[in-house]
Amino acid sequence: MLYSTTKEHEELRKAIREFAEAEVKPIAFQLDQNNEFPHDVVKAMGERGWMGIPYAKEYGGAGLDAISYAIAVEELSRVDGGVGVILSAHTSLGSYPIEAFGTEEQKKKYLIPLAEGKSIGAFGLTEPEAGSDAGGTQTVAELDGDHYILNGNKIFITNAPEADTYVVFAVTTPGIGTKGISAFIVEKGWEGFSFGDPYDKLGIRSSKTAELIFDNVKVPKENLLGQEGQGFRIAMQTLDGGRIGIAAQALGIAQGAYEHALKYAKERIQFGKPIAQQQSIGFKLADMATKLRAARFLIYSAAEMKTLHVPYGTESAMAKMYASDIALEVVNDALQIHGGSGYLKGMEVERFYRDAKITTIYEGTNEIQRVVIAASLVGKMPK
Ligand code: CAA
Repeated sequence: MLYSTTKEHEELRKAIREFAEAEVKPIAFQLDQNNEFPHDVVKAMGERGWMGIPYAKEYGGAGLDAISYAIAVEELSRVDGGVGVILSAHTSLGSYPIEAFGTEEQKKKYLIPLAEGKSIGAFGLTEPEAGSDAGGTQTVAELDGDHYILNGNKIFITNAPEADTYVVFAVTTPGIGTKGISAFIVEKGWEGFSFGDPYDKLGIRSSKTAELIFDNVKVPKENLLGQEGQGFRIAMQTLDGGRIGIAAQALGIAQGAYEHALKYAKERIQFGKPIAQQQSIGFKLADMATKLRAARFLIYSAAEMKTLHVPYGTESAMAKMYASDIALEVVNDALQIHGGSGYLKGMEVERFYRDAKITTIYEGTNEIQRVVIAASLVGKMPK
C-alpha cells in the first residue's frame, strides 16, 4: 500500500499548523509547568470541526478520512504532544467505539456532541491488574432489572476527569475470559462514579490522566455498547485505530524536536562555522529526517488502509511501534544537538524529550505491538 496526500489534506495541515502555532505554542510551556488542561484550545478545536474529523457529517463530524485525522494529531503534537493526545484519545478511543458499535439512539445521544466538540470522550480499559493483559479485566457489571451495576477501578485514563463520556469495559460473565467482557457508555456525574486526583506525569502534562472509580454505578441497559460479551473485540478493534493516533502523536513530537534542532544547528557557531556544517551533526540531522519520513509513510499508509476498510491492525501496530521508537531517538538527538541549553526548562526540546516517552508505553506497549505483529506473521504464541 502507498499513501498520497491530497490538496485537501495539505490545506487541513496548514490550517491546524497555523492554529497550533498561534493558539497552543505561546501557552505550551505554561500548560506543561502547571499541568493545566487547555479548555479554550479544546473548545476552539470543536468550533473548527476538528473534534470529529473522521466521522460522518450526519453525526456531527467533518466527514474526512483517517489520514486527515492523523495529520491533525501530528500537527498539534508538533507543538504540544499533550494537546495531540487529547484529540487522539477523544476521537479514536472515546468516539470510535460508539460510531462503530453504537445503536442509532446511542450515536444521536453521544456521538453527535462528541464529534461536534460539545463533549469530550475517554476510554476506560486499563486496570491495576489488567494492563498489557487487557483480558484480565476485573471491573464487573451485574445486570439488575433495567440496569447494570458497575463496580471496579480503571487507571491511567487519558482525558479523565475532563471527559464527559467514557467507554468502559467490564466483566458481565465471569470465568469465560475475554468472551465475558462487555462495553458500556458511562456518563460523568452518575452516582457512584468518581475520579482519583490527576496523575503528576513526566510529560504530556497539558493532557489530564486520572483513575476512574465505580462504586455501585447504575448504568442503564440501553448503555450497553454492542452485544454482551463483545467488549474485548470492541476494545481491540478500537485500539487498532487508536494506534494510528499515537503513531501520529509520536511523529509530531519528533518532527517538532527535529525542526528546533535543525534551526539551532544552522545558527550555532562552533569552531568557526555552524554546527550543522560539521559532519557529526549533519549526519545526525540526516538520520532524523530519514526516520521521520519512514514513520510518516507507515502512518499514512495504515490510515489509508483504515479508510479503505481493508484489515490494517498489523500495519497500525507497525506504525505505532516504529514511530514511537524513532521518536525517542529523534528527541534524544535533538536535545544532544542543543547541548547544555537543551537541558533547560523552557526549551522546547526539553519538553519534547519528556513528552515522547509515553508513546512507547500507552495504547499497547511496543512489546505488545511486537506480539501483535509477530502473531500476524507466525501465528499466536502459546501463553
Ligand atoms: N480486532 C478484533 N478482534 C480481535 C483483535 C483485533 N485487533 N485482537 C484480538 N481479537 C479477538 C481475537 O480474535 C480473539 O477472539 P476469538 O477468541 O473469538 O478468536 C479475542 O479477541 C481474544 O484475543 P487474544 O486471545 O489474542 O487475546 P489476548 O488475551 O491474548 O490479548 C493482546 C491480546 C494483543 C495482548 C491484547 O490484550 C492487547 O492488545 N493488550 C494491550 C492492551 C492495550 O493496548 N491497552 C491500552 C490501553 S488504552 C490507552 O493506553 C489509552 C491512552 O492512554 C491514550
